[in-house]
Amino acid sequence: MSSYVIVGTQWGDEGKGKIIDVLAHKADYVVRFQGGNNAGHTVVVNGEKFILHLLPSGMLHGNGKCVIGPGVVVDPKVLLEELSVLDKKGAKTDHLFISDRAHLIMPYHIKLDECKEKAMGVNKIGTTKRGIGPCYSEKITRTGLRIVDLLDMEVFGEKLKRNLEEKNQLFTKLYDEEPLNFDEIFNDYKEYAEKLKHRIIDSVPEINKALDEDKFVLFEGAQALMLDIDYGTYPFVTSSSPTAGGVTVGAGVSPKKIDKIIGVMKAYTTRVGEGPFVTELDNELGELLRQTGGEFGATTGRPRRCGWLDAVVGKYAVDINGLTDVVMTKIDVLSGHETLKICTAYEIDGEIYNAPPASIEKLIKAKPIYEELPGWVEDISKITNYDELPENCKKYIKRVEELIKAPISMVSVGPDRVQNIFINEI
Ligand code: GDP
Ligand code: IMO
Ligand code: MG
Repeated sequence: MSSYVIVGTQWGDEGKGKIIDVLAHKADYVVRFQGGNNAGHTVVVNGEKFILHLLPSGMLHGNGKCVIGPGVVVDPKVLLEELSVLDKKGAKTDHLFISDRAHLIMPYHIKLDECKEKAMGVNKIGTTKRGIGPCYSEKITRTGLRIVDLLDMEVFGEKLKRNLEEKNQLFTKLYDEEPLNFDEIFNDYKEYAEKLKHRIIDSVPEINKALDEDKFVLFEGAQALMLDIDYGTYPFVTSSSPTAGGVTVGAGVSPKKIDKIIGVMKAYTTRVGEGPFVTELDNELGELLRQTGGEFGATTGRPRRCGWLDAVVGKYAVDINGLTDVVMTKIDVLSGHETLKICTAYEIDGEIYNAPPASIEKLIKAKPIYEELPGWVEDISKITNYDELPENCKKYIKRVEELIKAPISMVSVGPDRVQNIFINEI
């Protein structure tokens, strides 16, 4: 067997959850390696919709183990709530494990996220306010609390006291807010520890052993390249590395052990939150895509900004991730347009760019250079065979392949697990 990485290639919400669910039936492990409950991954099984935030999207398919890896930031309250939703629906949950190295999102991270966003005013990032940035910041400054600390509440209490003293200074003196109470947090986390301790493992040797034994491991990315802390539209990004490179640090495996790197790419583009978006359609057409594609955030319910496919971003995703395959999703949403546009380059101050520049000030000024392709009118959501797709739909897929220089191996034509067209074997 082999190991696959699945990553988002745009600004998130490409349909990663659905694709992971489809591939998970044969997986021995599905491992999340970064991000936290800022993610919202939708899985539709027999018409029933599940939105997973922290739980790997393989939870509902197959018999493999699901692991929340070392690079993830975990809000234990949210995790327990998600597990209980699945329990109530009669779904299996005993195959979920958490790395002892993962960092804990604490109530002060969530409050800090809110305070910082409020303080930034018009310059806000538009975060999901789940405490992601403050938790990763604390990890990097080496004072974070980790899942392993839940196994020794005395140690946990000492670290919490130290961190809370500092955070309460910020709340009361800088943000003019109420301080948080030590006992309340301590008691809540003690309860979470009791409920979660049987799921805490050292995932690193276990996953490496599975890879050495040729088991099939799926690494599930959250967010996407353009939200990457290093390569995204900084500072309008998330605080982790949602790229293929993120797997090695976030799951503790060597790049040598990865066989396929699959990028999930929506047939058009969406973005939630603030920040530049070169192909954005802030008009009726954008609204049409939003309504047809049901483009409302799975985590915050915010309307997603919509626009044409950006092949500059697509090529950038192929380069940075080394994509071996691309899965194009939501192409069914593009039915009914007379013409479709694909952005092939940016023009900034009279200069042509084939990759997004580092300067956000430049990127804001970028004008998309479009190529137009004829559209199709047919409903393609029930097609399972590539040959049956309308000719213009096939031409669209082929042109994107040419522009991004990677094979589109699978096309998704609807939210359900079965609405897929396999072009190459994945
Ligand atoms: P993720 O964060 O990448 O997992 O994506 P989300 O779940 O946030 O958003 C993708 C949305 O599109 C969800 O509502 C999915 O059910 C839906 N979806 C996924 N693939 C397709 C598809 O091929 N066609 C259509 N129409 N919807 C899809
Ligand atoms: P999935 O996994 C889309 C965006 C937020 C905000 C920025 C920073 O479902 O694709 P954060 O809370 O992470 O500090 O917010 O990143 N963002 C996402 N946008 N899909 C996601 O995840 C996202 N996770 C974070 O909207 O702009
Ligand atoms: Mg999502």
